[in-house]
Amino acid sequence: MNEVVKNNKFHITTFGCQMNLADSSTLVATLLTRGYQRVYEEKEADLIIFNTCSVREKAEERVFGRLWEVYKYKKEKPDLKIAVVGCMAQRLGEKLIEKVPHVDFVLGTDRLFELPEVARGNNGYHPVMTAFGHENMDAIKPVRENDFSGFVTISRGCDNYCTYCIVPYVRGRERAHSADSIVENVQRLADEGVVEIMLLGQNVNSYRWHDTDFPELLERVAAETDIRRIRYMTSHPKDLSNRLVDVMADNEKIMPHVHLPLQSGADRILERMGRKYTIEHYNKIVDYIRSRLDYVAVTTDLIVGFPSETEAEYEATLRAVSDIQFDSAFMFRYSVRPGTIAAEYDDDVPEADKIRRLNKLIDLQQKISFERNQRELGRVCYSLVEGFSRRSEEFSRARTEGNKIVLFKNGGAAPGTVVPVKITGADAFTLHGEIVEEVRC
Ligand code: SAH
Ligand code: SF4
Ligand code: F3S
Repeated sequence: MNEVVKNNKFHITTFGCQMNLADSSTLVATLLTRGYQRVYEEKEADLIIFNTCSVREKAEERVFGRLWEVYKYKKEKPDLKIAVVGCMAQRLGEKLIEKVPHVDFVLGTDRLFELPEVARGNNGYHPVMTAFGHENMDAIKPVRENDFSGFVTISRGCDNYCTYCIVPYVRGRERAHSADSIVENVQRLADEGVVEIMLLGQNVNSYRWHDTDFPELLERVAAETDIRRIRYMTSHPKDLSNRLVDVMADNEKIMPHVHLPLQSGADRILERMGRKYTIEHYNKIVDYIRSRLDYVAVTTDLIVGFPSETEAEYEATLRAVSDIQFDSAFMFRYSVRPGTIAAEYDDDVPEADKIRRLNKLIDLQQKISFERNQRELGRVCYSLVEGFSRRSEEFSRARTEGNKIVLFKNGGAAPGTVVPVKITGADAFTLHGEIVEEVRC
């Protein structure tokens, strides 16, 4: 039996968006190469890590709840170290330790990759590290999520400062990875057997590295690597160009899914959110996307109860959702984020109204998702097998080109294979189908 180095077992929990998932994967790989060992039970760990999210108050409350839960392990095992990294660590810094004194390390979004040294305690760093600018961008190597898919971060941070949003404060200014390093990293993942990659940025459409913009980057990744399927996230409507849509239309490797957060259907609210587009502009983009791509899934994010949102403005959001017919949507109640521009506005939509507005919006979107999914009946979707259905190993779970989950009778399709699945049933959340002979959809 190999001797295990003392105090080297870590457990990690990730909250928040794909950016955090990508960072966690890289952090895990870094820890493993430094002799740490990953465990999947917190009680077995010598180092418990939370990679955190600050986007809404609830996201932070969840982390505080978990931090107090793991306190019991610390009492049993005083050597146990607890690390809070990522967005909440960045936002709260020292205050986090004031609130939760049993936290040992607080590492912000540019510093989390230094955790192995900090945890070894041999570098003299102060355990609260939130200064920006300490990362060597291209030294952050993407690591695959599993044997067949991976995230590749193309830019970090955000310069848009939407008035409600904490991300620019916790993630810093937008900084692009070099196009060459992105192409290289995608190829490296493809060489490791990865079938599908997702290019990640808070606003991929504002990507620029010297003369390379996002459509060109996509073209390069498609042409210069052996990766089979390419996705990207997130698009900002103010920067999405027709050329990007043309590149998607011309390139089979780029999956026909556009996640395009609308946030609100009312122009006055969009302006107050600092989104810099109108509903008319948004509609034009969606029309162009749907005119150029034979099949495409369009998904979105929506916020209800933004400061001063009237009932009529909320109804404009409902109308937009009915008109546009999104395949699915993430829907949120506005949550005040201290330090943002909107935090200065009066948070004047009562909580009960926010809840009512959200529930009605969710009901509407659910009906639309159901109808959109019904339109898939009879299509043959080339779907990437991810594993088994959560409920039963009798069914395999796969991801269609439009990023929808499809379940089909398990005929031994291995995770990581792309199989043709004919859609035979659908509800609002999931497609059902059966494997068929090869035919292009
Ligand atoms: N960069 C992406 C996503 C950012 S965060 C973009 O620009 O779309 C993901 C989603 O969280 C946002 O699209 C928004 O709908 C929601 N969100 C962000 N801040 C919020 C807040 N203060 N309250 C409620 N929802 C918020
Ligand atoms: Fe936040 Fe807007 Fe940046 Fe998205 S584009 S991360 S919503 S500030
Ligand atoms: Fe949350 Fe940070 Fe992502 S605030 S949404 S984890 S960038």
